Amino acid sequence: MKVLVIASGGDTPGMNKVIFNLYKKFKNNLFACKRGFSGLIDDEIYSASVFEPKKYKNQAGVCIKSARCPRFITDEGFKKGLKNAKKFDIVVILGGNGSAKGAKRLAENGVKTIFAPATIDNDIEGSEYSLGFHTAVKACCEAVYNVMPSMNAFDRACVFQVMGRRCDKIAKNVATTVEADALVASEEELDLQKIAKTLNKNYKQEKSSIIILRENILPIEKFISSLKTLTKGVEVKPFIIGHLQRGTKPSKVDIKMANQISKSIFKATKSPQMFSYIYFEEGCCKIK
Ligand code: F6P
Repeated sequence: MKVLVIASGGDTPGMNKVIFNLYKKFKNNLFACKRGFSGLIDDEIYSASVFEPKKYKNQAGVCIKSARCPRFITDEGFKKGLKNAKKFDIVVILGGNGSAKGAKRLAENGVKTIFAPATIDNDIEGSEYSLGFHTAVKACCEAVYNVMPSMNAFDRACVFQVMGRRCDKIAKNVATTVEADALVASEEELDLQKIAKTLNKNYKQEKSSIIILRENILPIEKFISSLKTLTKGVEVKPFIIGHLQRGTKPSKVDIKMANQISKSIFKATKSPQMFSYIYFEEGCCKIK
């Protein structure tokens, strides 16, 4: 059985572990697309061994490389990709909602496809968990814990911008864990007056403040300058956590999740359906 693995969209901690597990199972029958769907279109398909999956198994990132590929949405790009996908018995796609759409389209066109949820955003339709989320939240919390002692020394406030594209899950989880003074996880939640009041109060009490801001709501600098017009004496610093969330070594939880996903992929390859959708429900990894 010839299996092709593709990582598409944002890399996520734990992806390498899944790829290594697949390699351990399928050995020379495992092939990988370099740079997601771009590789599928541009004939960049190699034996998985070329990417040294063993060396990277516990690291973040993705050894086979990823890409965002708008070309795969076009009929021309899709047609080229489909031609290559048809050379394999099964195609395994690791990624987010966009990748799931690509996977489904391949299946609708006759390729046996398995999709597994892998994005730090944890916003996959029908899945309560997606690989890498735990590591991303952990990385954010660690950043907050490592920055705040310095903020405390000056009674400063710090705005930590976290990822999540349009999903508030990372922001909410981080805010709860670090006991943030304010959270801006959606546009509707943005109450500058209320946040400024908290910052002023903390400052008067010689305390620092933690504000968690989800990306793509408003630019962090604009947020801070608006806050400054409403606060008295409080110094507000920006801290964009950024790709630390994706580049951090996978947590033990995500290694466990990667192993669960791998087992589900193996199960799905035993009696392959045209489209197998791997998802998490009540803490378990399932296939539909
Ligand atoms: O989808 C994962 C994610 O990390 C989002 O949270 C973020 O908005 C985006 O990818 C960033 O993508 P890039 O690394 O391509 O800038």
